[in-house]
Amino acid sequence: MHFQWYPGHMTKARRMMQENIKLIDLIIELVDARIPLSSRNPDIDELGKNKARLILLNKADLAEDRRNDEWLEYFREKGYSAVKVNSKKGGGIKSIQSVIQEACREKTERDRKRGILNRPVRAMVVGIPNVGKSTFINALAGKACAKTGNKPGVTKGKQWIRLNKNVELLDTPGILWPKFEDQEVGLKLAFIGSIKDEILQTEELASELVRFLNGSYPGVLEEKYKIGTSEDPYETLGEIAQSRHCLTKGSGYDTEKAAAILLDDFRNGQLGRITLETPEKAQEQKEGKSR
Ligand code: G4P
Repeated sequence: MHFQWYPGHMTKARRMMQENIKLIDLIIELVDARIPLSSRNPDIDELGKNKARLILLNKADLAEDRRNDEWLEYFREKGYSAVKVNSKKGGGIKSIQSVIQEACREKTERDRKRGILNRPVRAMVVGIPNVGKSTFINALAGKACAKTGNKPGVTKGKQWIRLNKNVELLDTPGILWPKFEDQEVGLKLAFIGSIKDEILQTEELASELVRFLNGSYPGVLEEKYKIGTSEDPYETLGEIAQSRHCLTKGSGYDTEKAAAILLDDFRNGQLGRITLETPEKAQEQKEGKSR
């Protein structure tokens, strides 16, 4: 399966990001807990050097919890602050304010030594499309927060949400462009729905997902769709079609429809909590490539 995809508007997004990063102290980077590496754009490390960094494993409710914890450890070892959240239901959101303070401790300390007191930390949320940036900002800001900014001479054109006296958040998130020189990464982004389905062949994508699930989560498909085990992913799609009564106009089974059902069920967590990549595997792949 081959993807070639780079939306033109991402160039504009990058330029905006560079502008906005100048204004802030802390980058809050959302990644998808099911693919914490593949949903990152490593360019952010270069763009955000010298800034405090916080990584949020968002959609943690859709990923396996022991894997979430492994990923938190992975990122913390690399020097980021990291926490898991479920922005949709608000899980983990309460602790974020103190996590932000902690992530910016060095900066606050530096300010204090220079005699700058009570200057709020300014933060920006960034992440690839659909990772949950708006949902997170809404969950964090809630209704109680006053919007600041647009005051003459203060923050021309920028809206800041005052979370409390210590933290202000830029109200527009930074969009990172998914990055995949690697087909494997493209595939995982497609599984979670970050790349539009129209440019991918649904059945081919779904059969790749079947292949992955059979290898890493054996029994999940059999249990969910009440089907038998098969070595052939297309046969599995046929069985799902049969079990879900997906019929074509003729008399055959509609595997295209079954493929769409499977992808939907996976994306909505209907197959259970599933993580598509582990820190261990990521490390192995990296070493394999550098060899
Ligand atoms: P973006 O700004 O980064 O582009 O993402 P956005 O907030 O629009 O969220 C994209 C989708 O992800 C939304 O679903 C949102 O509800 C869902 N989402 C965000 N955070 C979480 C989370 O922590 N857990 C889960 N399970 N889902 C999350 P949608 O399908 O577009 O809408 P809806 O299902 O909410 O109606």
